Amino acid sequence: MTLDLNFVRSQFPALDSEWAFMDNAGGTQILKGCVDNINEYYYKNNVQLGGSYEPSQIAAKAFNEGRRKISTLFNAKSADEIVFGPSTTVLLQFLSKSLVGQFNKGDEVIVTTMDHETNIGPWLELEKWGVIVKFWDINLDTHTLHLSDLKKLLSDKTKLVAFTHVSNIVGTINPVKEFTRFIHDHGAMVCVDAVAYAPHRAVDVSEWGVDFYAFSLYKTFGPHHAALYCRMDRMLELDNLYHYFYGKDKIPAKMEPGNANYELSYGSGAIVDYLVELGSRANENGTDRENIEAAFDLITDHETRLGSMLLSYLGNRNDCNIIGIDDGNNTSRVPTISFTIKGKLSDQICLAMDKHKIGIRFGDFHARRLSDLLLLNQFNGAVRISLTHYNTMDEVERLISSLDQVLN
Ligand SMILES: Cc1ncc(COP(=O)(O)O)c(C=O)c1O
Repeated sequence: MTLDLNFVRSQFPALDSEWAFMDNAGGTQILKGCVDNINEYYYKNNVQLGGSYEPSQIAAKAFNEGRRKISTLFNAKSADEIVFGPSTTVLLQFLSKSLVGQFNKGDEVIVTTMDHETNIGPWLELEKWGVIVKFWDINLDTHTLHLSDLKKLLSDKTKLVAFTHVSNIVGTINPVKEFTRFIHDHGAMVCVDAVAYAPHRAVDVSEWGVDFYAFSLYKTFGPHHAALYCRMDRMLELDNLYHYFYGKDKIPAKMEPGNANYELSYGSGAIVDYLVELGSRANENGTDRENIEAAFDLITDHETRLGSMLLSYLGNRNDCNIIGIDDGNNTSRVPTISFTIKGKLSDQICLAMDKHKIGIRFGDFHARRLSDLLLLNQFNGAVRISLTHYNTMDEVERLISSLDQVLN
């Protein structure tokens, strides 16, 4: 069984374009179902929640439905473990703020140099409270994080380790379950940035045992909205960020000061409807969760084929330096593929590709510490081609023939 690309592409109206969209790690196209849900909410349910009158009750039901569906995408045990917010950046800032009460002067937090600044900056903020922040460095030979390096940083003062599931530059999948077990064995919590992972593989927070895990729905086929999972025991311990008369047990609302966006929360539920429908084509009688997993199996197969084609082209050039795993058949990488070309500037490459109507991107992608370590500045950053499951082999062929003209 292979991915039904006709069905897939029919669900994304914006793909009916002369452009090939290959900046998906920046943001994916949105599902028609999400737009329809958002419209439906505005046209039919746009009242304030919490009223006794029927339309307000219906609106609350829709909002809760969005949260319940997104909790299935995380495989969370309860919808109350899901916090909505405008972006992963904001959600992790909220998280660090709501953890302050649990940290003492001299406690330690570890962040990585592989991460986007979203999962570094909020933890550095804790230095104001006397928390010590240490950096777990990426290994520059393998472009991976090694537990042996982390081990040297851990101490009985370590309270939390923040790391990325997949770097938005490197594309290699970090073994979250193994990292989490190791970190928990040392008595610390984990906070995982899954923004670059969630569009490519099934998320399973229950299986991995993570404490905190977040990703952006606008990079996972939905609207500009994001979700943070806080495992229930952790959720209950977090400080209340909302009004004083909301106590710590007012979950998850205490983490959504001023309320989460209703229409986008409801709208995001259609991401799950889509994945369930996609998976049910391979797995007719499955539960919603089983169908989500079946959908991601199909997605992984297809994306591996796309990535493999591009990596083999780039790998055959003797002027190309691919960042991360360069073997396209390796399923521990997602098709977020960054590279530099000897003697060429990345911005110039992207500008030239614009003329071919192929949307790609250059830069440090807000993972500036990583970009500096990889010495990308001399190229004005890396070129990043980030494919997703709605891209086709024909598009990748077009990409390669355009790259060939631009690079030669
Ligand atoms: C890996 C990673 N983490 C975090 C972010 C930030 O997400 P948001 O825009 O939702 O704050 C991005 C955005 O590019 C990202 O790629």
